[in-house]
Amino acid sequence: MSGQELPEKDDITGVETTGHEWDGLKELNNPAPRWWLWVFLVTVIWSVGYWVVYPAWPTFSGATEGTWKWTQYGELKEAQQEIHQRRAKYQDRFHQAALADILADAELYEFARVGGAAAFKENCAACHGTGAAGGRGYPNLNDDDWLWHGKLDEIHETLRVGINSGHDESRISQMPAFGRDGLLTRAQIGDVTEYVHQLHLADKANATPAYTRGQQVYTENCAACHGADGEGDRTLGAPRLNDEVWLWGGDKKSIHNTVTNAHVGVMPAWEGRLSPDTLKALTIYIHSLGGTEPDVPMQNE
Ligand code: HEC
Ligand code: HEC
Repeated sequence: MSGQELPEKDDITGVETTGHEWDGLKELNNPAPRWWLWVFLVTVIWSVGYWVVYPAWPTFSGATEGTWKWTQYGELKEAQQEIHQRRAKYQDRFHQAALADILADAELYEFARVGGAAAFKENCAACHGTGAAGGRGYPNLNDDDWLWHGKLDEIHETLRVGINSGHDESRISQMPAFGRDGLLTRAQIGDVTEYVHQLHLADKANATPAYTRGQQVYTENCAACHGADGEGDRTLGAPRLNDEVWLWGGDKKSIHNTVTNAHVGVMPAWEGRLSPDTLKALTIYIHSLGGTEPDVPMQNE
């Protein structure tokens, strides 16, 4: 192809060609449409404006700042401030409110439950399980079987001072090791195991002689803590024995082992390790899991 030739005209349209030709196809030299030129011009101006106001050009130490000084950190900070402000709105009210007031205030209640759930995952789930369902030796916190109490003030106290925790005011629960310390004979332990194993059964018609002997052993040695009918005692942290909820196992072997060796469950004290507000939120969360009790002010039952 030679570039020296005069621009050739296309036979059909009468428009000049650019002189480029591919296998008989020729390129017409039409000017770009006006609208297109305008759009092009506007984008060029836009980009210049963008360079000026936003960070755009890389430099050795980062990038040009732009006159608006926009940064992603700035955006993040603003978003965080908004969250802080929104939280602060509740935080003050939450801080002032008594546990019972939080229960009565739908907004504060939700605020506490969400915060409490997060604190639970972080501090408690390792022992009590993520769903608070517990495990052997670690009580389920979803049911209404409470070692201590399911009332707000009592849950709060359990968290604050712990159980057998070494805290000055710790809740103390102690079951004697009847076998290990020779308080009962093996035979007596066998009998009382039989009795306790059947306690929760509604129908004890086929009570064995061991059961009857065990009842005697129970009344003399166990009723003081576990109650005359095995209903438990929440002032001592002594579990209810006449239901099907077991902390250490309800089969005969487990019961026998408990009576022989006893268990000392330890629940850490959280006062001083968690803020008072976190303890409050946790209390509400645990309380919300269910199995809770009418919330009359703390009193001995
Ligand atoms: C190191 C393990 C451990 C951790 C961590 C722990 N707990 Fe416990 N918790 C226990 C044990 C064990 C018991 C039962 C003690 C007993 O046998 O009397 C208990 C008992 C309780 C009880 C009393 C239940 C009842 O039936 O009265 C509550 C409520 C409770 N824990 C809540 C919590 C909360 C909330 C946290 C987190 C702040 C937590 N626990 C962290 C081990 C733990
Ligand atoms: C001084 C009070 C006390 C006396 C007396 C006592 N217990 Fe206990 N018992 C407890 C406490 C407290 C626990 C909970 C231990 C823990 O988990 O920390 C317990 C736990 C148990 C458990 C485990 C319950 C479960 O849910 O797994 C059984 C079973 C039991 N006791 C049976 C007996 C029998 C039988 C006797 C009498 C021979 C007896 N206890 C006497 C306080 C007592």
